[in-house]
Amino acid sequence: MIRFPESVRLVEVGPRDGLQNEPVMVPASVKVELIERLADAGLPAVEATSFVSPRWVPQMADAAEVMARVRRRAGVSYPVLVPNLKGLDAAIAAGVEEIAVFGAASEAFSRRNINCGIDESLDRFAPVCERALAQGLRVRGYVSVVLGCPFEGDVAPESVAHVSLRLHEMGCYEVSLGDTIGVGTPGRTQRMIEAVSRAVPVERLAGHFHDTYGQALANILAALDCGVLTFDCSVAGLGGCPYAPGATGNVATEDVLFMLDGLGIRTGVDMDSLVATGQFICEAIGRTNNSRAGRALALKRERHAA
Ligand code: HMG
Ligand code: MG
Repeated sequence: MIRFPESVRLVEVGPRDGLQNEPVMVPASVKVELIERLADAGLPAVEATSFVSPRWVPQMADAAEVMARVRRRAGVSYPVLVPNLKGLDAAIAAGVEEIAVFGAASEAFSRRNINCGIDESLDRFAPVCERALAQGLRVRGYVSVVLGCPFEGDVAPESVAHVSLRLHEMGCYEVSLGDTIGVGTPGRTQRMIEAVSRAVPVERLAGHFHDTYGQALANILAALDCGVLTFDCSVAGLGGCPYAPGATGNVATEDVLFMLDGLGIRTGVDMDSLVATGQFICEAIGRTNNSRAGRALALKRERHAA
């Protein structure tokens, strides 16, 4: 029998992880409205954008504009991705209060994503974390490809534990474990989390699952059973992985919320507002809604209104 907690913290990553691979530029005004609607729906953290090289990720080139325009709700955090000191300086200039550094558990993915190997990436993150913490910012850490790499295949849990520990030691208040290409299954998820939690306290870990093989909700249950209490998710299941053809986005926020609501686990997120937000962004960017719960609830609402 799974041990369920009373509440779970959801970190919405749609505006960043969801939109970063969209081929057509999404206007800043749409991004800003998306972020504001998500915060209004009750998400306690909305990852807003990333201060990365615009050559590598053109869709996030408007990071400063988005942060300048977004109305920030008290009590909500708006983390942004930062890969290096240049990104940190730009984020601080934009008035950001929380950043996230992002590493990987495989050498090949690290090189493709941030153009350096794992050790070098950790050496780069150390001064970023140090300066950010000294300026009073909160720092989150990511480890990508924790359950499989599109270039190297299987990833050893020990490698995930090694990178997680280094991020934890640099002062990351939480390390988010990313199944970037969505190949994990519940048993492997638990073995990976058990290995990582021998290095980093489990209450400092978050789960970041993608739904490529339809395993994300099952993996979240498996992670809950290990004591993980924070999960990343993306409204309407926005997103994908440029290095994994066919990989779907992060698990949809609506799907996670439907499951947690059904289990009586509190999140503070309002389903109606969330579903409307999913419809808004899909219409705004002409994309299919990847959330099954989101689609079903929207349909139900339309029938009810007719
Ligand atoms: P590089 O080419 O090695 O960097 O890229 P560089 O230092 O040689 O600089 C090259 C150019 O980029 C220079 O410009 C720099 O000024 C500029 P130029 O002189 O040629 O005109 N530059 C920057 N510009 C703006 N902001 C910056 C910045 N840094 C350099 N911060 C670098 C290295 C890390 C910069 C690059 O590889 C990069 O930006 N990568 C980001 C990749 C990315 O954002 N990936 C997606 C996020 S990770 C993810 O999605 C997974 C996750 O969601 C978990 C999961 O899903 O499982 C977290
Ligand atoms: Mg992701």
